[in-house]
Amino acid sequence: MILITGASSGLGAALAKLYSIDKHPLAITGRNERRLSQISTSLSHPVTVLPCDLCDPQSVSNLLDDLDTPPSLVIHSAGSGYFGKIEDQDPSSITDMLNNNIHSTIFLLRELVQRYRDQAVTVAVVMSTAAQSAKAEESTYCAAKWAVKGFIESIRLELKGSPMKIVAVYPGGMATEFWASSGKQLDTSNFMTANEAAIMLKQALVSTEHGFVSDITINRQ
Ligand SMILES: NC(=O)c1ccc[n+]([C@@H]2O[C@H](COP(=O)([O-])OP(=O)(O)OC[C@H]3O[C@@H](n4cnc5c(N)ncnc54)[C@H](OP(=O)(O)O)[C@@H]3O)[C@@H](O)[C@H]2O)c1
Repeated sequence: MILITGASSGLGAALAKLYSIDKHPLAITGRNERRLSQISTSLSHPVTVLPCDLCDPQSVSNLLDDLDTPPSLVIHSAGSGYFGKIEDQDPSSITDMLNNNIHSTIFLLRELVQRYRDQAVTVAVVMSTAAQSAKAEESTYCAAKWAVKGFIESIRLELKGSPMKIVAVYPGGMATEFWASSGKQLDTSNFMTANEAAIMLKQALVSTEHGFVSDITINRQ
């Protein structure tokens, strides 16, 4: 069973399409039930649709209760962007963005580790190249993604010796709905499509008996 968060849009939806072609047992989640169900009906193989706001810890617990089997792979693609000069940013939009990136990851990982730390579960956490370098007019988004990076690197230390593995994923710009809600006007015509990024991520998510790819940066040309 593969669980994909943020699957109602963008990278998560593209990953759901790719894994459904392989007929993997799949569960997809996001907050928007209508978009999740549209994605689900467009897939080539039946999937389980489990709407969830990952910022609500009880909903995250219910989400994992509702999985038929423990997941072998969780791809956490849910997140949101909010940009602009710091003096122009709106406090409630900053809070929403921090919650969608930081709280979602903390609450999801907390539940996953509680339940599966002794099982071979791979958790791929999608951050951004904004977690790797500072970017002007992306200060609060960088703060969110750097926070997620610090969080997952610390959890990796807590999981030392456990079969549960955390994969850090750092994509560059993708042409998705992310930008429309971010407050930043820019031309995304040269950005990767979500499908391109999903193909590269799926190919990179490999492991052998004694090794796994732990950190994945997907740069745009
Ligand atoms: N697009 C880019 O250029 C870019 C670049 C680097 C990194 N990233 C990161 O890549 C990931 C995917 O981005 P994308 O471009 O695919 O964005 P997107 O098209 O806007 O999709 C974001 C997804 O996250 C879900 N989501 C947001 N907040 C949530 C919450 N509180 N609970 C549950 N689901 C939530 C949304 O679903 P609902 O609205 O249905 O909840 C949606 O499915 C994000 O983490 C983003 O920060 C994006």
